Amino acid sequence: MKQLINWIQSRLHRYPERPGHQRPSVKWVDDLERKISGAITYQPKNREDFPSLPRHVAIIMDGNGRWAKKHRAEVAFGHRAGTENLREIIRRSDELGIGSLSLYAFSTENWRRSPQEVAALMQLILDFFASEINELEAKNVRILILGDKNDLPDAQRDTLLQAEQRTAKNTGLHLNIAINYGGRAELTRAARELGELCAAGSLQPEDIDERLMGAHLYTGDQPDVDLMIRTSGEMRLSNFLLWQVAYAEFLFPRTLWPDFSVKEYDEALMAFSGRQRRFGGR
Ligand code: FPP
Repeated sequence: MKQLINWIQSRLHRYPERPGHQRPSVKWVDDLERKISGAITYQPKNREDFPSLPRHVAIIMDGNGRWAKKHRAEVAFGHRAGTENLREIIRRSDELGIGSLSLYAFSTENWRRSPQEVAALMQLILDFFASEINELEAKNVRILILGDKNDLPDAQRDTLLQAEQRTAKNTGLHLNIAINYGGRAELTRAARELGELCAAGSLQPEDIDERLMGAHLYTGDQPDVDLMIRTSGEMRLSNFLLWQVAYAEFLFPRTLWPDFSVKEYDEALMAFSGRQRRFGGR
């Protein structure tokens, strides 16, 4: 910061005064310093400190493996660190009154990872709910699992079902956790459900519209994703919420997920509020 100001000052003094061109005064430089430093150190605290907030945030928590490597540790250690971080981001989302938070925890493709890594992720699911469910319930958070629970081991399926049931009547943050989830599979499932309703005669094909299609997705009547964040610098969607991100704003911070702090999350939310959204119009 100081360096930047010194640089600006040194540049200004190189310019000689010319008729009609006033050199910026010391006060002008001081004001500039105050403004830049205010912008850099501005720390939003409450919902009111953000010009606008997304109604629905989705996060692809990428970079656990690289984080583990950087710390010369097993990949499971990275996933554990990532889960610790997850708690903070959920708390912050709840604090800010964000309506929906969707997290990509385990994709249908993640089964292709080594048995040890899959086992570590499955264990984390159990540990996460064992340690968090009371707090989430007390905070009025509603948990919804996106994905097919039937293919999961019994213990994980039961834990997830219980978490959903215990929080089903809550009215606060919608916490959507994608486990054994794939966006194309979600769309196929919705199409099949609608097809079955048509075959049974309770729905006419011409009555199928975008609203009905959306209602048959896991996310049901929740709003579309406004902000999609993928950490670690990768810029892919990886089959996450294909329908729901139709008009989302995207951010790709380079930070690895376990290091993605609440401060950076706030910055991402602030960056979102600066985006001009036109939804295809002008
Ligand atoms: C991607 O990083 C991350 C995952 C595949 C899993 C993310 C899961 C968690 C943070 C914890 C599980 C969540 C719950 C709710 C228990 P990567 O391993 O692909 O990273 P890399 O690209 O650096 O290898």
